[in-house]
Amino acid sequence: MEQYYVIKGGIPLIGEVEIGGAKNAALAILAAAIMTDETVTIENLPDVRDINVLLDAMQGIGAKIDRLDEHTVKINGSLIQELRVEYECIKRIRASYYLLGALLGKYNHAEVALPGGCDIGSRPIDLHLKGFRALGADVTIKHGLIVAQAERLFGTHIYLDKVSVGATINIMMAAAMAEGKTIIENAAKEPHVVDVANFLNSMGANIRGAGTDVIRIFGVQKLHATEYSIIPDQIEAGTFMFAAAATKGDVTVKNVIPKHLEATSAKLVEVGCQVHEMDDAVRVISPGPMRHTQVTTLAYPGFPTDMQPQMSVLLGIAQGTSTVTESIFENRFRYVDELARMGANIKVESSIAIINGVPNYMGARVSAPDLRAGAALVIAGLAAEGVTVVDNIHYVERGYEQFEKKLCGIGAQIEKVSSEKEIQKFKLKVG
Ligand code: UD1
Repeated sequence: MEQYYVIKGGIPLIGEVEIGGAKNAALAILAAAIMTDETVTIENLPDVRDINVLLDAMQGIGAKIDRLDEHTVKINGSLIQELRVEYECIKRIRASYYLLGALLGKYNHAEVALPGGCDIGSRPIDLHLKGFRALGADVTIKHGLIVAQAERLFGTHIYLDKVSVGATINIMMAAAMAEGKTIIENAAKEPHVVDVANFLNSMGANIRGAGTDVIRIFGVQKLHATEYSIIPDQIEAGTFMFAAAATKGDVTVKNVIPKHLEATSAKLVEVGCQVHEMDDAVRVISPGPMRHTQVTTLAYPGFPTDMQPQMSVLLGIAQGTSTVTESIFENRFRYVDELARMGANIKVESSIAIINGVPNYMGARVSAPDLRAGAALVIAGLAAEGVTVVDNIHYVERGYEQFEKKLCGIGAQIEKVSSEKEIQKFKLKVG
């Protein structure tokens, strides 16, 4: 059933919102949890579609999944029979590739369908495979499946040609039980790389240097049970911070690690917002018209590509001309045409969006082209004059838990509806 968000814009968001666990950390941690035969408990799990699809795929190969509540799961990988993860299970989530590293690390054998996920440009996994090969695995692609196998995996020295979150994590998992020492150079430094390393270490792995660009993994023979709580989602937090800014609101975003939000906070200050950091919260106050600026997406600690569409939406209603340069993915401006329907004046030239600020957006019917761009269009709708309808919200639900409810909690007028009739009803209600 197709569902839509309907939004009456122009209301400053005010209040407090709680952030959930990091989706991208959780995806890797869930996969890594099957690397022991003992039971692992994971807390602060976000209850979003990508997570539930991965859990289904894990159950499909024989892992025991016990959902204690929507944010806690117990996983036992001792009864895994099947080392093949079929396309049907995982075509909707790219991060299914983490099962490759986890299964290969534990059983020296994995077969996983080539991943799907958001269409934000060509997303190769050559670096993951290069890492597995360097550890001694034979890797081939047969009938849409990646098949990786080895007699044994051996520690080695791997230089990543590009900084890749996925490759860093996948190699770290595969190397956790390899014989000897593995060194990953030019590793990604994202908070979720650190979280996955901490998780593996809590299971008995010996990984050092996560969070720097050189990670050392000393292989161990066995991993054991653990209880682990996932870090807060920096992108969910950033999205609410930008929603506060775009609506000229005053929102305290709670249960975050402010250090992980530094690049996001810095840009908000540059455009004229106030950002107050507390121990585990940030408060964003947006006093009035915002100023233009320049942004380039970069690997952590740079400005995250997953906040790029939200940034463009904000700059679309800031004074003057801004530029947003996308340096990670080549096809991440597909939302610009949708935003133009709301009155934005944005021109894209290869990887740069040139944004001429307009006074405000006008409500329109728009379609979410991917997860983060979908969230960005919701922000535009919250700022806009009049009513906005966002289609294809299944993308947004891949990564945001109770998005509309959390927004309502800070004063937004937004509903999730499933028919034209309900859209009309909402319009009549809000006037
Ligand atoms: C992860 C995040 C995604 C985020 C991205 C960058 C998950 C599930 N997804 O994606 O939300 O936008 O990090 O922060 O955690 N590359 C290669 N070869 C490879 C792997 C990557 O060329 O084998 C390139 C990619 O095309 C891209 C760049 O490296 O240009 C970075 O990609 P990567 O960090 O791997 O992104 P993901 O792990 O897929």
